[in-house]
Amino acid sequence: MRNSNQILEYLKVELKRLNFNINEKVLMAIFKLCTERAGIIVFDKEKIDQFINDISSDETIFQLQAEADEENDEESDETWKVARRNSVYSEVVRPENFQLPYYQKDDETIKFLLGILQHGIPFEFLNPDQKMKLINSMEPRTIKAGEYVIKEGGYENQMYIIDSGEFEVVRGGTVLRRLIKGSYFGEIALLHNIPRTASVKAIVDGKTWVVEQTSFTGIKMIDRICNKKIILEGLKEQNIFPNATDKDYEQISDVQSFVYYKAGTNVNVKDREFFMLLYDGEIDMNGIKSVKSKEVLRNNFVSITDIQGAHIYNIHRKCKSKFFLDSKK
Ligand code: CMP
Repeated sequence: MRNSNQILEYLKVELKRLNFNINEKVLMAIFKLCTERAGIIVFDKEKIDQFINDISSDETIFQLQAEADEENDEESDETWKVARRNSVYSEVVRPENFQLPYYQKDDETIKFLLGILQHGIPFEFLNPDQKMKLINSMEPRTIKAGEYVIKEGGYENQMYIIDSGEFEVVRGGTVLRRLIKGSYFGEIALLHNIPRTASVKAIVDGKTWVVEQTSFTGIKMIDRICNKKIILEGLKEQNIFPNATDKDYEQISDVQSFVYYKAGTNVNVKDREFFMLLYDGEIDMNGIKSVKSKEVLRNNFVSITDIQGAHIYNIHRKCKSKFFLDSKK
C-alpha cells in the first residue's frame, strides 16, 4: 500500500474507533493536516497516534466538523448534527478566561487519585505537574442511591472518579457493567465531546471526584501555549531551518506534540528528526551531561532526570511543494 493510502486508511479506522463521527470531507482535511502540516509523509504509527491525540485534545476535529457542516448543511446526517451541536454547546476554553478551580485534599486522597491518574488512558499524556493540577481541581460530589449521575445521550462532559459506593452503567435498559471504588466513568464525553454513550446510576450512596472538561483541556492548553513559545524561540534563535520564514516557524511549532519522559527512559531519536528540550535536565548520551532548555539532541539518550521536549521532523514541506532542510544535520 502506498504511504498516503496507508496513512489515510489508518486515520479513518482510528478516528472511527475513537467514536468521532466525521464525514469524508473532514477526514480529508485531517489527512491534509497530518501530511502537510505535521509533515508525516511516511507511515509511522507512533507519530500518527500522537497527531490524533493532539488534534482531538485541542478541539481541531470539532472545529473542522463545524466548518464543514456550515459549508454544506445538506450533507449532514443526524449523528453529525448532534456532534456539531454538542461541540457548539461545549464550553470553549481560552487562555484569557481560563481559571482552574481548587479543592483542598488530604494526603491519602491525593495518593488515591494519583494512583488512578498513573494508569488511566485519558491521563497518559499528562506530566506529573499537570496531574497534580488536575487533582487539585477535582470537586467532591456525593451521590444518593438511585440517582443518575449521567444520562445516555446527555450533553455534559465531566468525568467522575469513584471514591466510594457502587454504580451501574446502563445502555438502552441493559446493565453493561458495575463500577466500584477506583473506577472512573464519563471519560468518553470528556475526551471526545460526544453525547453520553450510556447512563450511569448509583446503586448505593457514594462519593465521586468530578473532573471538569474545562480543567482537563485548560491545563493542557496553557502548557501547550508555553511549550510552543519555547520551541518557536529555540528554532528561530538557532536558525534550525535556514530557508524558513517566520510563518513557517510558526507552523512548525504549531504542529508539534510535546512528550514527557520519566527519569530512566531510553529515548529514541530517529534519523529524520531531532529532539528539542523544553526544560533543563540531565541525560546520558555516552556519559552523563546537563542539558538546557531549547537544546537540540540528535542521538538516542537515556533521561537521568524527567525530560520534556518535542521530536521535530528535520524536513518540512513548504507550501508549493518546496522543501527546506535542516542544514545543520
Ligand atoms: P460517557 O459516554 O462520557 O458517559 C457514559 C459512560 O459510561 C461512558 O463515558 C463510559 O465511562 C461508561 N461506559 C459506556 N459504555 C461502557 C461499557 N460498555 N462498559 C463500561 N463502561 C461504559
